[in-house]
Amino acid sequence: MLKVDGLTKKFGELVAVNSLNFEVKEGQIYGIAGPNGAGKSTVYNLITGNYRYEGRIEFDGQDITGLPPYRIAKKGIARTFQVPEIFPSLNVQETIRVGSRFGARGGLDKKHSDEVLNFVGLEEERLQHAGLLNLLGKKKLMVGAALATKPKILMLDEPMAGSNAGEIADLMDLIKKINQQLGITVIIIEHFMKVLTELTETLLIIESGRMICCDRPEIVTSDPRVIESYLGDSYAEDK
Ligand SMILES: Nc1ncnc2c1ncn2[C@@H]1O[C@H](COP(=O)(O)OP(=O)(O)OP(=O)(O)O)[C@@H](O)[C@H]1O
Ligand SMILES: [Mg+2]
Repeated sequence: MLKVDGLTKKFGELVAVNSLNFEVKEGQIYGIAGPNGAGKSTVYNLITGNYRYEGRIEFDGQDITGLPPYRIAKKGIARTFQVPEIFPSLNVQETIRVGSRFGARGGLDKKHSDEVLNFVGLEEERLQHAGLLNLLGKKKLMVGAALATKPKILMLDEPMAGSNAGEIADLMDLIKKINQQLGITVIIIEHFMKVLTELTETLLIIESGRMICCDRPEIVTSDPRVIESYLGDSYAEDK
């Protein structure tokens, strides 16, 4: 469904993403992990058309290389951000409707927006100002606004960051529901290995913009290269 070929991004001297190849199959939950500064968020920024880059990106059988962000959103690619980005002056319902209008496969769809609001569990907060939600609420709202664009693929950037165990369980359930009930393909960047091993079918590890390994999570987490470069010896001992 999403095929990345020779993806390379340089910021001046720094090669943030270096000849990266990977393929996400339709219906998968696909994980991406790696140390801070590995280039994970940059990969999302390239897929969504925020920067120029070298290489080729194919989505749904079409070459989307170099398309601007609004055209990529209309093709069915949505994302969330590492730090929740919301409009604090809008209420929850309005925020989700903005998402619906932006994705615009058919324009603002109020009925679908209301369904999304219920789906992410924010029906009681419908008229509350987005800026007053707690962190979990803001995250659910950001996912809701992304879902309102009617995506075929949803790319989540560290959705669990700053969450406690209960919130993590809650968000994991939501991600599973998005994948299983809505049939949306999901890519998730995450640092919590337990989350990745439970949710994902395939896990890509990158370091300094390059692929270290890519396989089923149980194979990836016992790969000596991954333990050495990312997980650390204590992870291997705890397992
Ligand atoms: N717009 C930019 N201009 C210059 N350098 C950038 C820019 N965006 C990212 N970088 C650099 O590219 C490298 C990769 O950054 P990126 O944010 O993709 O890492 P990451 O894997 O998402 O890290 P983290 O786990 O901390 O979120 C870093 O060295 C970062 O400083
Ligand atoms: Mg990042």
